[in-house]
Amino acid sequence: MTGMSVSDLMDSMEYGPAPESAAEALAWLVDRGDRFGQFIDGGFTSPGETFDSKNPATGEVLALITQANAADVDAAVEAARKAQPKWARLSGHQRARHLYALARQIQKHARLLAVLETLDNGKPIRESRDIDVPLAARHFYYHAGLAQLLEDERPGHAPVGVCGQIIPWNFPVLMLAWKIAPALAAGNTVVLKPAEWTSLTALMFADICAQVGLPKGVVNIVTGDGAVGEMIVAHPGVDKIAFTGSTEVGRKIRAATAGTGKRLSLELGGKSPYVVFEDADLDSAVEGLVDAIWFNQGQVCCAGSRLIVQEGVAEAFLDRLKARMAGLRIGDPLDKCIDIGAMVDPAQRDRVAAMVAEGAAEGTVYQPDTALPDRGCYFPPTLISGLSSASALMQEEIFGPVLVSTTFRTPGEAVQLANDTRYGLAASVWSESINVALDIAPRLAAGVIWVNGSNMFDAAAGFGGLRESGFGREGGWEGLMEYLGPERAAKALKPYARPDRAPEPEPADPLDRTAKMYIGGKQARPDSGYSRAVHGARGGLAGHAGLGNRKDIRNAVEAARKAQGPWAAASGHNRAQVMYYIAENLSARAEEFAARISALTGAQKTSAKAEVEQSLDRLFTYAAWADKYDGQIKGVPLRGTALAMNAPVGVIGALCPDEAPLLGLVSVMAPAIAMGNACVLVASEPHPLAATDFYQVLDTSDVPGGVVNIVTGPHAPLAATLAAHMDVDAVWSFSSSDISGEIEQAAAGNLKRSWVNHGKARDWAGPEGAGREFLRAATEVKTVWIPWGA
Ligand code: NAI
Repeated sequence: MTGMSVSDLMDSMEYGPAPESAAEALAWLVDRGDRFGQFIDGGFTSPGETFDSKNPATGEVLALITQANAADVDAAVEAARKAQPKWARLSGHQRARHLYALARQIQKHARLLAVLETLDNGKPIRESRDIDVPLAARHFYYHAGLAQLLEDERPGHAPVGVCGQIIPWNFPVLMLAWKIAPALAAGNTVVLKPAEWTSLTALMFADICAQVGLPKGVVNIVTGDGAVGEMIVAHPGVDKIAFTGSTEVGRKIRAATAGTGKRLSLELGGKSPYVVFEDADLDSAVEGLVDAIWFNQGQVCCAGSRLIVQEGVAEAFLDRLKARMAGLRIGDPLDKCIDIGAMVDPAQRDRVAAMVAEGAAEGTVYQPDTALPDRGCYFPPTLISGLSSASALMQEEIFGPVLVSTTFRTPGEAVQLANDTRYGLAASVWSESINVALDIAPRLAAGVIWVNGSNMFDAAAGFGGLRESGFGREGGWEGLMEYLGPERAAKALKPYARPDRAPEPEPADPLDRTAKMYIGGKQARPDSGYSRAVHGARGGLAGHAGLGNRKDIRNAVEAARKAQGPWAAASGHNRAQVMYYIAENLSARAEEFAARISALTGAQKTSAKAEVEQSLDRLFTYAAWADKYDGQIKGVPLRGTALAMNAPVGVIGALCPDEAPLLGLVSVMAPAIAMGNACVLVASEPHPLAATDFYQVLDTSDVPGGVVNIVTGPHAPLAATLAAHMDVDAVWSFSSSDISGEIEQAAAGNLKRSWVNHGKARDWAGPEGAGREFLRAATEVKTVWIPWGA
């Protein structure tokens, strides 16, 4: 040391290695024979056909994992099935105690779990120790609380049953917690499959389940690759699939479960924008960005992987970023001083390298000349700037430590660039101006938005996406609802048999009384030029209704898209006023509507009258809700807050029920428009004339053109067009035609949300015809995180 000044010392000082010991984790593996079977019905099966689980930092084999076969999956589902009713019959408090015990054990074994996670996945120990494992424990604690409060806070709900849960390799133990805690809290049992590269912490969790005396069969863990995932998805004994992973596999799962009645939630890929305004605190924004894209080597579904920076500060910002990148420490993930660890597998690293090599020519590539370790699976932090929004690297999920960037000039352009993606998982916005930040945040198409921050997570706050990032939320009450359904047992609907009548060309007579469709606020003749005679209950001709086709649906969707933004921007109060006005005008024609319903359906006069009255009631209900379906402020552990906002879904296409031609249509339309959506309603197929009469009411009630569109015609082909349409955000079907499966299948295209009846009836006049179930379907929970403090 002699001869060295303190400043010399500071300049030359390198971080010495500070490795965490792997001894305890390796001993745990040895103790288990370095080989694992499946965890089924409370115990481990003997290992079968195995594959290697490797440490990506060294390439060494850590353990042998069994590839589950069909018999294993059957046994796991059967164990879960058997255990489920008993688990659901426990009181909320009893389930809470089990979840609490799991949380306590995770905390007790935190160090072991963190080291095992780092060995298996390659992520820096600092992250697994300070983020993954504590958040997993927090998730079980939080859900112990939800189990405790469930009966009081969400009465009238029942668990879904047996849940098949499939998780990825980027946050193995955390994703396990996100899946298992809410399922168990709600009274479900699970069969969970970890990703084939990272099964070890799930197997250790299985050990913990046995240790705390969780009833047998409540949690079952099966291991193996995508083929095992497919078996779980296809298994008839599974009632719900919860999946986190790639959009490609999510789409396959949507298609595979179509028409089976299985519930589904999907948390898929992302290409989340990171928007930096010129008035941002640039140093903080650089730090936030390091966390956004180099956390977990960028293998994060919500990674802030797309930098959009205001032109005036772009150069300065990128310079500071590059300087920071040069200081990032890459190496042994068990070293507590390491910023960037190993990628999960050579296959993943090679995929990222290939994507970068292919797209790099379109921009300017920067990689610091930090030396990479000479063995193990590492990729340098990479910045590719000067890209256009259309370039592949700006659009495709890279899922590695690679940031792409572009610039913007105006706030409007920032929003446009940020939303120019097929994904919608997360977004960050940086500005010191509260006006700018809070104006931009809700305009970003994403389920989670961080103001002046990134990667903030908590069990109390919902996480999940829009568009091709999937649907459903994890965390909070909204996440719990994914594991609950209505308590009622629904009766089967009588399928509608279309009468065998040939379509007729529309009469050329200008005085023709064929009921028109209603598109963009105007009466519209069907594109086909054909109509169908509609006969009343006693057989007499009641009128003609247009036979809508795909062109009519497209026109209606276009009109709805145009109208939706301004309608959503109107206040809830304004929307309520319009809905009261609809009710007023319907009320003025109540007699006429009752007579029409009676003539069409053969209903008694009194019950037809009641249907009109109930329709008025329903309009009032949702007019009331329009400014009262409040969001929440979440109790997150942060100096700041997380706002859960109920945002409209967008354009909703709905196949209206046939049982109650007017009430059904109103019951579907009202929640949609109350929440700020625009809708395309396909009227009841047997009784379209109640709907076409209704548009005259809409026409005189100040409903802006395009907010409600009504198409008449055969349900099956119209549903197929709606469900496949890339600009429709959700499809609902209450039709008595057998179309639920086709809708879910076609919805896989852009992964739109679907809510279909699977041939089950609903009592439209009773409580199940209205309420929160509809409001939830008509909204997306958007969580906006706002930290504060100087
Ligand atoms: P993946 O989506 O193939 O794997 C996720 C899970 O699904 C694993 O447990 C896997 O075994 C299982 N799986 C695979 N095929 C299946 C099928 N047909 N049916 C049911 N389950 C199936 O993701 P992978 O291959 O590990 O990564 C590929 C890319 O996906 C990544 O590079 C990244 O872009 C993206 N990805 C996104 C994640 C996210 O959280 N958004 C997580 C993992 C990957």
